[in-house]
Amino acid sequence: MITVSNLDVQFGKRALFQDVNLKFTPGNCYGIIGANGAGKSTFLRVLSKQLDPTRGQVTLGPGERLSVLSQDHFAFDEYTVLDTVLMGHTTLWDIMTEKNALYEKADFTDADGIRASELEEKFAELEGWNAESDAASLLSGLGISEELHYSVMKDLSGKQKVRILLARALFGKPDNLLLDEPTNDLDLETVSWLEHYLSNFEHTVLVVSHDRHFLDSVCTHTVDIDFGKLQLFAGNYGFWYESSQLALRQQQQQNKKAEEKKKELEEFIRRFSANVAKSKQTTSRKKMIEKLNIEEIKPSSRRYPGIIFTPSREPGNQILEVKGLSKSFEGKVLFKDLNLNVEKDDKIVFISRDPRAMTAFFQIINGEDEDFEGTFKWGQTITTAYLPLDNATFFNSDYNLIEWLSQFAKDTNEVFLKGFLGRMLFAGEELLKKVSVLSGGEKMRCMISRMMLKDANTLILDTPTNHLDLESIQAFNNTLKTFKGNVLFSSHDHEFIQTVSNRIIELTPNGIIDKMMDYDDYITDPVVAEMKEKLYTK
Ligand SMILES: Nc1ncnc2c1ncn2[C@@H]1O[C@H](COP(=O)(O)OP(=O)(O)O)[C@@H](O)[C@H]1O
Ligand SMILES: [Mg+2]
Repeated sequence: MITVSNLDVQFGKRALFQDVNLKFTPGNCYGIIGANGAGKSTFLRVLSKQLDPTRGQVTLGPGERLSVLSQDHFAFDEYTVLDTVLMGHTTLWDIMTEKNALYEKADFTDADGIRASELEEKFAELEGWNAESDAASLLSGLGISEELHYSVMKDLSGKQKVRILLARALFGKPDNLLLDEPTNDLDLETVSWLEHYLSNFEHTVLVVSHDRHFLDSVCTHTVDIDFGKLQLFAGNYGFWYESSQLALRQQQQQNKKAEEKKKELEEFIRRFSANVAKSKQTTSRKKMIEKLNIEEIKPSSRRYPGIIFTPSREPGNQILEVKGLSKSFEGKVLFKDLNLNVEKDDKIVFISRDPRAMTAFFQIINGEDEDFEGTFKWGQTITTAYLPLDNATFFNSDYNLIEWLSQFAKDTNEVFLKGFLGRMLFAGEELLKKVSVLSGGEKMRCMISRMMLKDANTLILDTPTNHLDLESIQAFNNTLKTFKGNVLFSSHDHEFIQTVSNRIIELTPNGIIDKMMDYDDYITDPVVAEMKEKLYTK
């Protein structure tokens, strides 16, 4: 349990939060959301005592332990994998090191004997005898096989280190667990593992994430950081989003009676609960619905960007035909013999174990890479808008936002351009900022404005949710669901893929898998798994 009382955090003159009073209790998982720079990481650093607040207190339950997922991938380079994990339980680790030092002493005194027996007692209390096997099974569960447990950290790959640091944070089931964007560097399989683990975790968890699928599968509560305030809601992100949008619509319906509004909210909760009950349920979701109540539903003050793509003409039947397309890069085959006919209404997600395969494919069909085998042909009626993975070259200029966007517009009227930028939440002074200083998220918002100008009927998106905040991801996601044209995309965002795509194409070095299938089904389908194994290992 973590109790926060009268907390203020201030940097210089700027107050990040004021007067925060919250209690985080066992069995619950709190999803922390908020715009970039809202103070999510700072809040976690205060809770873990890495940063002193300007005022107020943070207290844990008596005798409780708190553990943090480390973001520093090099901090443990000299230690073995197993020790890195064991050290995550600092109390136990300190006992072990002191104990071992005593036993190694040549002149072991009576006092040492007494101390040793004290340590042995504490060691036993903390189930120290099981520590190594617990740590080992945690590692193995995360796909770090036993022959690696005694290797030193610096010999492991980045992907392996992330999993070991995760095992370190979870080791010994801490009473309080803090995770700051844990899914960023994790592959899909490990994310699923973590979702399952946290859903059944009986202690207190706080997690910062932009991954909606992850938030929805693990969280029982949502903490929204906005305008210097922390607000706690019962329910996961999906519930918070849908219910606060409903409350916002109700706020605008002045003539509707309070009673009718209440009924509508009750009906919403009923429908939501029914869906949860039907879904492949996790413990946290079950716990969550028990706690929902309509008094807590408040309209959201959040602003969502207005992402709208309006095709200037309907696509005909001939969209994109790809024949025998192969691409290698630095001697490695990215994909081979890709044959594909894009059909009307297709929204295709491209996936691969090697993300360079998608980037290469998108570059080829956009005419940016001519080093390939095979052919592709766009239909007569097709107009495309492409969001590349790497947009750095677009921003090497002294232009301000308006000047920048005018490069891509037929109509360079300033009011018209401001309208587009305004929909992406750029306004006032900001419009005169130089594009070269923009943050990753702001650059993405500019690139989306550029895409909207194109009025294209086919969108090609290489990892569109990169750097975007939750509001932008949500708005982008919503608009693609209803977009009346074709979408070809790649993404790390589970929810995005699940709700946008109606066709999945996996690119492998030995051919493709092409399925008209739901993404959740695709990743659990045994037939697909078998095909993958063959295609990747051939
Ligand atoms: N030690 C510090 N001194 C001054 N400003 C800081 C410090 N740490 C963070 N900030 C500022 O506080 C704000 C919140 O940062 P952070 O908690 O990292 O945001 P988030 O994790 O929500 O993106 C940012 O504007 C950041 O620049
Ligand atoms: Mg942060």
